[in-house]
Amino acid sequence: MKQEVILSNNLEEILEAAIARCPHDRLFLLVDVTTQRLCLPVVQDFKCLASAHVIVIGDTDENKTLESLSYVWQELQRGGTRHSLMINLGGGMVTDLGGFAASTFKRGIQYINIPTTLLSMVDASVGGKTGINFGGLKNEIGVFNCSQSVILDTIFLRTLDYANLASGYAEMLKHGLISNEQNWAELLRFDLGNNHDISQVDFKLLGEMVATSVAIKERIVDEDPTEKGIRKALNLGHTVGHAFESLAMQEKRTVLHGYAVAWGMVCELYLSAIKTGFPTDKLRQTVQFIKQTYGEFQFTCKEYPLLLELMTHDKKNTAGIINFTLLGGIGDIRINQTATKQEIEEALDFLREG
Ligand code: GLY
Repeated sequence: MKQEVILSNNLEEILEAAIARCPHDRLFLLVDVTTQRLCLPVVQDFKCLASAHVIVIGDTDENKTLESLSYVWQELQRGGTRHSLMINLGGGMVTDLGGFAASTFKRGIQYINIPTTLLSMVDASVGGKTGINFGGLKNEIGVFNCSQSVILDTIFLRTLDYANLASGYAEMLKHGLISNEQNWAELLRFDLGNNHDISQVDFKLLGEMVATSVAIKERIVDEDPTEKGIRKALNLGHTVGHAFESLAMQEKRTVLHGYAVAWGMVCELYLSAIKTGFPTDKLRQTVQFIKQTYGEFQFTCKEYPLLLELMTHDKKNTAGIINFTLLGGIGDIRINQTATKQEIEEALDFLREG
């Protein structure tokens, strides 16, 4: 299950070596319409990709469907065998769907991820979660199956806008909160381009921080690849965050995943403060950073019953009991926590008014 995560400063060389480690007959390269436009030009003249058959799917989560998956399988059938190799070049949608297509085609072919968004670099492309949305539920169908290699090259971060950088940064902040105080403090200090001016972002430092963030995730995934225990630490902010995402989806408004997770972390850190002793000064500093970076999620108390209902149906629960990952302090992870309806409503009040 162990995958090789490589920090690249020469994408062509690193990719050539990664491909050479995966003997194959045919080579496929999956992109979506956005990465076809913004990222394919970076790699398309690489000699190691000269024979690649490029497969293009629609972009965004709306296309993370059985139809797109079926299209990828059909393209793989154009000459693909059990000994073929697939490269996924894109954000989480491409690496999740492409990973699932590769894991199931002829019972599984090898694949390599080249994540192109901050979110997929620090989260989606690492750890082997693959899949598609189904029946109105996110990531409902899928398998755990790691890529052979994940190649991280910060060159792609420069193709992102502020919102997409901020979205990925929320998962980095989560990794800081579940690891140690030094990492958390560095994340709060970093200037992500206040006032949405990303020309000021220090991409070299961000690259180093990405490496630290991915190492945190790798350590946890190595210990618990299939999320029986400690991998649940990575769900911090996600129980409430997924409910916000689903609510936004139902109301046909767009909320990026990391924004929903950031707002979810505000609620879950509040629960941590009242239930597991998370220090209030660290709560205050983290909330201030999140409000400054992500603004506010617009919702009213009329939506609380629906949010609670959405949390109750989260696939991380057992026997209909809402499962939270909370913290006793930075790096002090408390998995499998519960909260009463009243405590959850208080946490939602805290996000709206706190
Ligand atoms: N996205 C959380 C995980 O990979 O477990």
